[in-house]
Amino acid sequence: MACPMKPALPAATERYGGSGREMDRVAGELVDGHGRRIDYLRLSVLEQCQMRCFYCHPGRPRQKKANPRLPAARVIRLAAAFVGLGVRRVRLTGGEPLLRCDLEEIAAGISTLDGIEEVTLSTNAELLAPRAAALRTAGVGRVNVSLDSLDRATFARITGGGCLDRVVAGIDAALAAGLRPVKLNSVVMRGINDHEIGALLGFAREREVDLRFIETMPIGPAGADSSRLLVPADEILAAVRAHCGGELVPLLERRGGGPARYYRLDDGTTVGVISAMSRHFCADCIRVRLSACGDLQLCLGRPGRVGLGQLLADGASDLELQQAICQAIGDKPYGHDFADPATAATLEMTAIGG
Ligand code: GTP
Ligand code: 5AD
Ligand code: SF4
Repeated sequence: MACPMKPALPAATERYGGSGREMDRVAGELVDGHGRRIDYLRLSVLEQCQMRCFYCHPGRPRQKKANPRLPAARVIRLAAAFVGLGVRRVRLTGGEPLLRCDLEEIAAGISTLDGIEEVTLSTNAELLAPRAAALRTAGVGRVNVSLDSLDRATFARITGGGCLDRVVAGIDAALAAGLRPVKLNSVVMRGINDHEIGALLGFAREREVDLRFIETMPIGPAGADSSRLLVPADEILAAVRAHCGGELVPLLERRGGGPARYYRLDDGTTVGVISAMSRHFCADCIRVRLSACGDLQLCLGRPGRVGLGQLLADGASDLELQQAICQAIGDKPYGHDFADPATAATLEMTAIGG
């Protein structure tokens, strides 16, 4: 098998594969075919969600049954294979990860792996309040929470019946449990919540949390409508500037593993934008995704998958798993294919985990 790891510096190189020269790697580094060092795994623990955000969730009943989810021990074993290869941060995603009652067990198993630097969680936070402290104890460092509206009726309309008050309670419980920084994710949608930028800024300021505004991506149900809904990052930033009345100071340091670009406001609030459409960030991509059934997806905006869960079920050894991971990451596509409507139709956010 060709070595997907670069650069193969002889001094630090380890060799895998028993029979001859199958794979080299620089200890602790996982580098794709475009020279990007992959250190961030977004790990979906199940596809289901109790909310029905219209841009994310199929409106009609699913045609096919949800894929089965892996048991906790297998999730941890897969994560260990990635961490053994150089992944340093793991984000637990879904669907809604808190629908799994063994989420703490998964978090504890991953956060104690040798070499892991952070385990984080992306959630809608409706079910977070009673579990925030236990998640902290299990090794979750911080949480990102979806919050598209501060108006109860709009929130319920966007999320298909979600309860804003419970989400806010989840955010407050996360802060109280020390899951910091809390980052809020707001998908900005024209005509739906784009007038709430100021209110969301006020909420973030009051609670001292980070706020990220996200451009609507043409994935799943949002696909057909996304160009109508899309508010480009420059327009979002202009609205932020108008509301804060001062300059936005770009932050140069990285704040997490994701693609947000951050700015500091005069009052100290940190605001980010995630501009997958108007200014994509694929050149700096350090992420891969694992679905709830163990499919490795190399890019959010490309459908190609490698069935690591199936390999596990077939009795693959850890070495074989790692070889499959290396080979797949060597072939990670350069960037998304959102411009092609056919791509959007094949992608499902709930199955990919965002
Ligand atoms: P941190 O930066 O570590 O806090 O996390 P994050 O921003 O990666 O995680 P989160 O789950 O909060 O993701 C926020 C938004 O960014 C979601 O809408 C994701 O779909 C989007 N996103 C994250 N990674 C990528 C990526 O690689 N490509 C694209 N196009 N969008 C991404
Ligand atoms: N475009 C942009 N962001 C999306 N998310 C879900 N679907 C889309 C989409 N089509 C966001 C959620 C959540 C994050 C994990 O992904 O709102 O904040
Ligand atoms: Fe990475 Fe694909 Fe996202 Fe681009 S679209 S940043 S390549 S995951």
